[in-house]
Amino acid sequence: MTTIIDGKAFSANLRGEIARKVALVKENHSITPGLAVVLVGEDPASQVYVRSKGKQTQEAGMNSYEHKLDASTSQQDLLKLIDQLNNDPDVHGILVQLPLPDHIDEEAVINSVSADKDVDGFHLSNVGRLSIGAEGIVPCTPLGSMMMLKDHLGDLSGMKAIVVGRSNIVGKPMAALLLKESCTVTIAHSRTRDLPGECRQADILVAAVGRPEMVKGDWIKPGATVIDVGINRIENEDGTTRLVGDVEFESAAEVAAAITPVPGGVGPMTIACLLHNTLQQACRLNGVDVPE
Ligand code: GUN
Repeated sequence: MTTIIDGKAFSANLRGEIARKVALVKENHSITPGLAVVLVGEDPASQVYVRSKGKQTQEAGMNSYEHKLDASTSQQDLLKLIDQLNNDPDVHGILVQLPLPDHIDEEAVINSVSADKDVDGFHLSNVGRLSIGAEGIVPCTPLGSMMMLKDHLGDLSGMKAIVVGRSNIVGKPMAALLLKESCTVTIAHSRTRDLPGECRQADILVAAVGRPEMVKGDWIKPGATVIDVGINRIENEDGTTRLVGDVEFESAAEVAAAITPVPGGVGPMTIACLLHNTLQQACRLNGVDVPE
């Protein structure tokens, strides 16, 4: 029997735990963690994410600060806002929603956020920490994926893992996390030769390429665990749309021992991990331990 890994239930549980810990830091240390989210422009998917982030931040008992800027905002004005947030003692986490408009240098903006308030784990100093296996803030989607993998598999040591996709947001940090857990890690990408053959070697397959249903069932090693990071909207024959992952779920579920669905797999874990990172930064900035 294939296990369908329920990210919705897992994330609800995690958010409940975070809310409990937030209540403790409020009560014991008079700290209310605060998360500032900056959105530049009107990208519809980003607007949905930002709304959802604000709602879940408040539900966890944290303060949510939303900054919505016009698509024509200059890089200088955006950097000015980030500087204000870096210096605001009520703000413990800053997230600048990506993608940014073309006239803005994404890397410059990401690295202008104080590493101590970076809740995305995108700042070079947090990227560096992860790459040497040190403690730090870990990008939310890979962190959520790893939490589900460990919950399902326990010790990952010695397992063969493949990450399909080499983005800075998911593929690379996911590979670093798997390496930290002593997996033997392959990072596959568009130039990889015999991608199906590479995938068939893996005990753990993480798909993060952004191509609808690219990974087929016969690419998967029988008994493997599959984490599908993709969220792609595709059109049905009747003109309606539906969400699918980067893995062809039906065929993959016949072969894998466990698989995350889309929707309801990795997706809900991302915001829960953002709250986790915000609580971690709020405690660190105030020199207190995150409650058990
Ligand atoms: N856009 C899509 N995913 C993310 C994310 O994890 N963080 C930020 N800041 N923007 C995103």
